Amino acid sequence: MTSEAPLGVFDSGVGGLSVLAQLRRHLPHEDFLYLADTAHVPIGARPDDEIRDLTERAVAALHARGAKGVVVACNTASAFSLTPLRERYGPSFPIIGLVPAVKPAVAATRSGVVGVLATPGTLRGTLLRDVIRKWADPAGVQVLTAVSAELVPLVEAGQASSEQARAVLRETLTPLAQAGADQLVLGCTHYPFLADSIRAEFGDTFALVDSGAAVARHTGNVLAGAGLLREAGRPGHATYLVTGNPEASRPVMATLTGVSEQNVTVQQVTT
Ligand code: DGL
Repeated sequence: MTSEAPLGVFDSGVGGLSVLAQLRRHLPHEDFLYLADTAHVPIGARPDDEIRDLTERAVAALHARGAKGVVVACNTASAFSLTPLRERYGPSFPIIGLVPAVKPAVAATRSGVVGVLATPGTLRGTLLRDVIRKWADPAGVQVLTAVSAELVPLVEAGQASSEQARAVLRETLTPLAQAGADQLVLGCTHYPFLADSIRAEFGDTFALVDSGAAVARHTGNVLAGAGLLREAGRPGHATYLVTGNPEASRPVMATLTGVSEQNVTVQQVTT
C-alpha cells in the first residue's frame, strides 16, 4: 500500500459526509473513496452482529478497491467493529473509528450536565460507556442520553431542515434542555447536518459538539505514522460509492457536499 492510494471512508449513509468534509479540509491532498451502505441504512437499531457484519463487508469492499485504510465515519459501526477490523487487517491498513465527543463536552460544560444524542446501537455499545467512565465520571459530570429512530432517515431523505425534523428534535431534546444540559454531543455522523434545526429550536441552550475535526486531525497523525500520508501534489478528490440506488442518493449527496448535482458522480457497488 502506498501513500498515493485513496483513503476509504464508510458510513451507513450520507452522515459520514460530515466527517469527509473535515477530512478534506485537514488533508487536502488525499483522495477519498466514500462508501455509503444506503441499501441498509439505518443501521442504528439493528442487532450487534448485523451491524458488525455490514461494517466488515463495507470495509472489505473498500480494501478490495485499493483503499490504504478506512475511517469508519459512523458511531454505530465503530461501536461494534473497530477491534475485529483491526485484528483482521493489522497495522499496515489503518482503521480509524469514531467515539462520541464526550471528552470536549465534559471540559466545556458549566452546568455539569452533558447530553448525548445517538442511535440505539451507539448507546448500547461499549465505546460510549468507556468515554463516560473515563472523562465524565471522574469530573462529576452527569451524562444524559437521547435517542431517535427518525432522525437518520430524515437526513437521508434530504429533510434535515424540515418541520418534521424540527418536531422530532423538539420532542427528543426537550428533556435534556429541561435537565440543564448545556453541551449536546452529536453522537451520530448524520446529526451535524441537523445543527441549524437544533439551533432554530433551542437557540443557545446547547453548544453542539461533534468529533469530525478531531477525527480528521487524528487520521492525519495515523497516516503520517504509517508512512501513508499524501502530503503534496495535486488537490485530492472524492469518489462516491453507494450500495443502493445511486440516482436516489445523488441529490442529497450534492446538497450535503455543497457541490452541484451534475458534478457529483455516484457509483453503485455491492458489499
Ligand atoms: N451515521 C451513523 C452513525 O454515526 C448512522 C447510523 C444509522 O444508520 O442508524 O451512527
